[in-house]
Amino acid sequence: MARKILFFFGPPASGKGTQAEKLAQQLGLPAISTGDLLRRNNQLAGEYKSAMNEGQLVADEVINDLLIERLSQADAEKGFILDGYPRTKTQFEYFYNNIIKSEDKACAIEISVSEPEIYNRLAGRRFCPQCGAGYHLLYKPSQQPGICDKCQTALEQRPDDTEDIIKERLGLYQRTMGPLVALWWQMGELIIIKGEKEIDQVNDDILEALEEDGFLKLKPEII
Ligand code: AP5
Repeated sequence: MARKILFFFGPPASGKGTQAEKLAQQLGLPAISTGDLLRRNNQLAGEYKSAMNEGQLVADEVINDLLIERLSQADAEKGFILDGYPRTKTQFEYFYNNIIKSEDKACAIEISVSEPEIYNRLAGRRFCPQCGAGYHLLYKPSQQPGICDKCQTALEQRPDDTEDIIKERLGLYQRTMGPLVALWWQMGELIIIKGEKEIDQVNDDILEALEEDGFLKLKPEII
């Protein structure tokens, strides 16, 4: 069966997770964030805690194994939306050599935002440690302050959302993603979206770009 595969990438706080979740509901595909998979796996979250908290990447083999395990679940059979993967050339090559099939339809979406906006967003970000849902104090508040709408767990701030670590994550992003962007561009699978608009407007722009690309038209059964 041909699968529909979307890659979301962009600097920290560009809104990858937020948009991947929205698209997942609209397209009926699972949104898979490698960051969330790590944070919610007690063993790996412990083992790689310092790398993650310091804004460093976790080893490629660990990430690839985690992804393979997640993709073996039934909900990923028709396709999936990846948030934050691939992040290195090794991950990119692993994916294209071992996971993607010739009949699959793939598209990579970069969400671009400016540096001041990144800091602004991360200062107000909160997340649910239980179900992974994401919020923002101003732009996407929970109904009850500090409590997850979905599972009523107390919301937390991510330990890597401090100014120093944000700077580290941003620098790493700029150094590592350039070659991958060039590859997607050469393959004709790249869409760039301006992320400094309201969340719903960004979502509309993504849907419009996917429509133009033929990604949605080719897959009428999922919309
Ligand atoms: P990960 O969890 O992927 O972190 P990240 O890439 O830094 O991305 P963020 O989650 O910070 O941002 P986002 O773009 O998803 O923004 P969000 O939608 O939340 O990775 C964390 C760590 O795990 C890495 O540092 C690494 O250690 C490890 N890791 C993960 N994947 C790996 C891999 N493949 N290889 C190796 N290591 C890996 O939005 C941010 C905030 O802004 C939210 O509060 C949201 O509500 C708000 N917001 C979103 N959109 C808008 C908007 N349009 N307007 C206003 N506010 C908005």
